[in-house]
Amino acid sequence: MVIFGAGGDLTKRLVVPSLYNLACAHLLPDEFAIVGFDLQDIAEQKWQQTLCEMTREFVRTADPSQSFNQDVWNSLSSRMHYVQGDLNNPASYEALKTKLAECDTKYGTAGNYVFYLAVADRFFGPVIERLGDSKLACEENGYWRRVVVEKPFGHDLASAKALNRRILKVIGENQIYRIDHFLGKETVQNIMMFRFANGLFEPLWNRDRIDHVQVTVAESLGVERRGGFYEHTGALRDMVPNHMFQLVGVIGMEAPNSFNADAVRSEKAKVIEAVRICEMEQSGYAAVRGQYGSGEVGGRPVEGYREEPDVSPDSAVETYAAMKLTVENLRWSGVPFYIRTGKRMTKRQTLIAIKFKGVPAALLRHTRLRQPAPNWLLLRIQPDEGIAFEFGAKIPGPTVQMGNVRMDFHYRDYFGTAPATGYETLIYDVMAGDATLFQRADNIESGWEVVEPVLEAWGAQKPGNFPNYPAGTAGPECADELLAKDGRAWRPID
Ligand code: BG6
Repeated sequence: MVIFGAGGDLTKRLVVPSLYNLACAHLLPDEFAIVGFDLQDIAEQKWQQTLCEMTREFVRTADPSQSFNQDVWNSLSSRMHYVQGDLNNPASYEALKTKLAECDTKYGTAGNYVFYLAVADRFFGPVIERLGDSKLACEENGYWRRVVVEKPFGHDLASAKALNRRILKVIGENQIYRIDHFLGKETVQNIMMFRFANGLFEPLWNRDRIDHVQVTVAESLGVERRGGFYEHTGALRDMVPNHMFQLVGVIGMEAPNSFNADAVRSEKAKVIEAVRICEMEQSGYAAVRGQYGSGEVGGRPVEGYREEPDVSPDSAVETYAAMKLTVENLRWSGVPFYIRTGKRMTKRQTLIAIKFKGVPAALLRHTRLRQPAPNWLLLRIQPDEGIAFEFGAKIPGPTVQMGNVRMDFHYRDYFGTAPATGYETLIYDVMAGDATLFQRADNIESGWEVVEPVLEAWGAQKPGNFPNYPAGTAGPECADELLAKDGRAWRPID
């Protein structure tokens, strides 16, 4: 595996710790080796040492009960090599080629390479072109060559299309693995199993029985050290066409004919193609935005977005976005999907909440019961991964009264937790050549296509009232109004 951006944050925090976890689980092939590529002139040993410290740290933070396995690390790091090079310089790719040939001889590798682009998005096109020019991306003599590309994949529809065209001139769609790390999350993968491997819910999974769906991706963190990046991105671009639409995709898709990569991706693509952002009669699109001001998160005072490093003091960039979507197909027609995401919210919670339709009121007309509370199915993606179902039950006693109860499944009770960054599955799948959990060119483009009108509308009109939610809250009032107009409310972030 060649890691471009070998000295970067992503490599240190996610890619190498995931490789270490895979090594601990004996899921790396015996011939596996890593070649790090970066501009920094650093001794190989020093580079390995920095990665060792980060991985050690990561392992402790992810699961304090897990100890660091020095033997596994030593064996992995003995196969880690470093090439100092410039992403834009063809000569550096020749140096890389020489190093790879050495590795092939030393480890008996078969010439199968994964090129992991852990670099800023402006380098995606140039690096792939250089790989093409140097013939490193060329699959011949039975070798495979795969390229992993991180997000952001484009900045809007036009740039995503241009990037796809540029990349696909050099390599085939089958060689490219566009990462959306949400798809690496166990709980997201489980939604498909939950839906299609259990007979109970699928017959209810449609406009006849579902009232609406809420998708929440709330973060308690702010923009941290990524102010510079975020000023050009904002919550809508950062989260909606990719992560949030992937969640809408797995909830909304039809059963694929098989779990083969193209079958699954085609079904998901169909759903995203059918998604529209609703239009309101007078106020344009049913989409609202917010930006956090100072406040308190977890009992600690925090600054507002405009005070964060590398952020303009009068920034109009949104750190919160919410919208009402419809999925215009037979299954979902008339069922709103409300989605929201924001930074510096009450707490970290990624949740898909599905509200089922209630019983007809007529049934209860001769009782003293008010309309019982609705049934909710709650798919908790993170943290506290699990699934809950809320329903009404009679409170014991001579008078007829109903209470709301909850059946609750926690992953940790049944399966324990595996140390994971979410990248282990994805990296493993790249090596195995399974693209099911990766985005195809059409998936990416249809995500951008859906949000394009709102991107344009928001770009044309600056919000006048930012900041409009204090850090540590559930978001701006306009997001509550979005649902209140339909007689609905967001579930509390609890
Ligand atoms: C990233 C976004 O893709 O996903 C970040 O760029 C966001 O802004 C992150 O914080 C959320 O991922 P997770 O796995 O922490 O929920």
